[in-house]
Amino acid sequence: MKHIMITESAAATRRITSALHNRGFTKPAAYLLILLLSYYLGYLSAILKTPSYDPPYNHPTTATIVNPPPQTTDVDHYQFQTHCVDPIPPQLVRQTILNQIFNGSSPYNDFPQPHIKPLLRRKRIKGWGSTGLVFKKLIEKVKPKTIIEIGTFLGASAIHMAELTQQLGLQTQILCIDDFRGWPGLPSQFRDIKMLNGNIMLLYQFMQNVVQANATETVIFFPFSTGSALEKLCEWGVFADLIEVDAGHDFHSAWSDINRAYKLLRPGGVIFGHDYFTGADSRGVRRAVNMFARVKGLRVKVDGQHWVLDSL
Ligand SMILES: C[S@@+](CC[C@H](N)C(=O)[O-])C[C@H]1O[C@@H](n2cnc3c(N)ncnc32)[C@H](O)[C@@H]1O
Ligand SMILES: *[C@@H]1O[C@H](CO)[C@@H](O)[C@H](O)[C@H]1NC(C)=O
Ligand SMILES: *[C@@H]1O[C@H](CO)[C@@H](O)[C@H](O)[C@H]1NC(C)=O
Repeated sequence: MKHIMITESAAATRRITSALHNRGFTKPAAYLLILLLSYYLGYLSAILKTPSYDPPYNHPTTATIVNPPPQTTDVDHYQFQTHCVDPIPPQLVRQTILNQIFNGSSPYNDFPQPHIKPLLRRKRIKGWGSTGLVFKKLIEKVKPKTIIEIGTFLGASAIHMAELTQQLGLQTQILCIDDFRGWPGLPSQFRDIKMLNGNIMLLYQFMQNVVQANATETVIFFPFSTGSALEKLCEWGVFADLIEVDAGHDFHSAWSDINRAYKLLRPGGVIFGHDYFTGADSRGVRRAVNMFARVKGLRVKVDGQHWVLDSL
């Protein structure tokens, strides 16, 4: 038995050597791999030949860790809580955010402080599809009292929505969720947005843009990660009639944002988002939107580069 094992191991090692060589492994790398493989094969044959009368082997503690059988809690990974506390009235949304996030007073008070002012431009807006017709169509249709925007950046789409709601004479509160960090690498792409001790002035430039647009009463913000912000809104009962999703565009971010946002939608509300069609996002956003629509029995409508979820 042992003899056969060894012969087979030797033959296997030869086959692997030539296979590795064909795949362009350098000699030292191939020898290292073979060394590891021989060790492993030796280990295997040692296990196989262990006679039954050997004393019980004392496993090192790391080897005694056994994966526990699946627990019922494991299914939580595939499930999102679908209910929040009862919604608070829309007219309490702003004050709730001020109380919970800004210690009760407006973050625009005394903005910008003297040490921040020289770091800002009077107005610096850049967006992506931020003034598409879809915003006007949905705001006219839904006449939202509360809008939640997930992913705000410099406020291009938020300010556009503020203008639309003002034109329609709606008393709309727009709540912008963004950590205002942008993404790694942003400072080299937007060199005119200043940085102070590693802190990119995205939040302050966004606030400056809102001030410049006279929209400080309409636009309030929640400067945290989308995950923690949306979970808190669910706890506080902050719902919306219109929710725009435009934060992380990878599948996991989009999937989690959409699931977390959907439960904050008032009856008759609409959830929509950007980048259903751009090449880079088809694997992320589009896959998440399609999967969500399938799970919930909703229909995906496409409007320019935006997706809109509607009841069937
Ligand atoms: C494409 S931009 C939003 C653009 C904006 N809607 C517009 O039209 O101008 C995406 C934004 O999402 C934010 N973001 C991405 N992942 C986030 C996360 N996990 N939590 C909070 N914000 C996030 C980034 O900081 C960035 O400002
Ligand atoms: C929050 O507000 C209270 C009451 O106005 C004040 O006493 C306290 O200092 C404030 N806290 C911070 C962190 O500003
Ligand atoms: C904001 O308000 C000021 C003063 O009322 C006005 O001069 C300015 O044009 C307004 N800006 C916008 C973008 O509406």
